[in-house]
Amino acid sequence: MNTSGAALQYGDIAIATPVVLAPMAGITNTAFRRLCREYGGGLYVSEMVTSRALVERTEEAMRLIGHHESEDIRSVQLYGVDPKTISEAVRMLVAENRADHIDLNFGCPVPKVTRKGGGAALPYKQDLFAAIVNSAVKAAGNIPVSVKMRKGIDADHLTFIEAGKSARDAGVAAVALHARTASEYYSGNADWSAIHELKDQLRDVQVLGNGDIWSASDAIRMMRETGCDGVVVGRGCLGRPWLFADLQAAFEEYAKDPNSNKAIDPVQPTLGEVAR
Ligand SMILES: Cc1cc2nc3c(=O)[nH]c(=O)nc-3n(C[C@H](O)[C@H](O)[C@H](O)COP(=O)(O)O)c2cc1C
Repeated sequence: MNTSGAALQYGDIAIATPVVLAPMAGITNTAFRRLCREYGGGLYVSEMVTSRALVERTEEAMRLIGHHESEDIRSVQLYGVDPKTISEAVRMLVAENRADHIDLNFGCPVPKVTRKGGGAALPYKQDLFAAIVNSAVKAAGNIPVSVKMRKGIDADHLTFIEAGKSARDAGVAAVALHARTASEYYSGNADWSAIHELKDQLRDVQVLGNGDIWSASDAIRMMRETGCDGVVVGRGCLGRPWLFADLQAAFEEYAKDPNSNKAIDPVQPTLGEVAR
């Protein structure tokens, strides 16, 4: 819980439920975000847009950053490998009032991207990573910026602690960790102990845990086991937007008593609701 009383605080934005819909390319468009938001509170992040395409105002980039008027927190995820282009893209979003929160993506595990030192491999180049995050935070002014990253390239090249500290020093509102390396892709189980380690090292910035939350009880377990400030939910809500209702109920219980073992009855939608 924050000093503001909200579960998460991103700049001036207070988020009552410490849940973030993970950005997912091809999925978290405005229709999907709004459907999820009907069920519960939290922060609902857009699909990733590359800063280069945004600066060039391609039709697709402009579509990706579009929000419905009912989306009161417009959260845009940016990807980029060049501080100048990222800075230009952020300045454009701010000057044209197109976003309330900007997330920076350093989690892409695709070999085509990581081989060139981009995506989840980028934090390995500490100076470049710091330059990108610093330039984004500076260009964003009052708009809060967060970063999303993986543990590192592989078990021998872990970057998350250094990257987390660097992002904190740049002034981000939150650091989200998908607790896998790039080489693990989506295999095996996410290593929640890394989220615990990151929170332990970053007491003074919000840390969000990500990886393998399939139910509300997983989310509460992640909070308890890692001490993280909030959770990021991706695949667990695919085809099941009502998961956000379970999460909301579980976190309301958690706010009253973090040690409560009261079971949350998962939402069991009727066939009619599923069809709708
Ligand atoms: C189809 C798909 C698309 C994704 N696209 C993005 C993306 O655009 N940006 C990003 O940061 N992560 C992306 N991710 C990763 C998720 O945000 C999340 O970190 C990952 O799925 C682990 O969380 P989960 O176990 O809750 O699914 C994507 C994941 C999936 C399955």
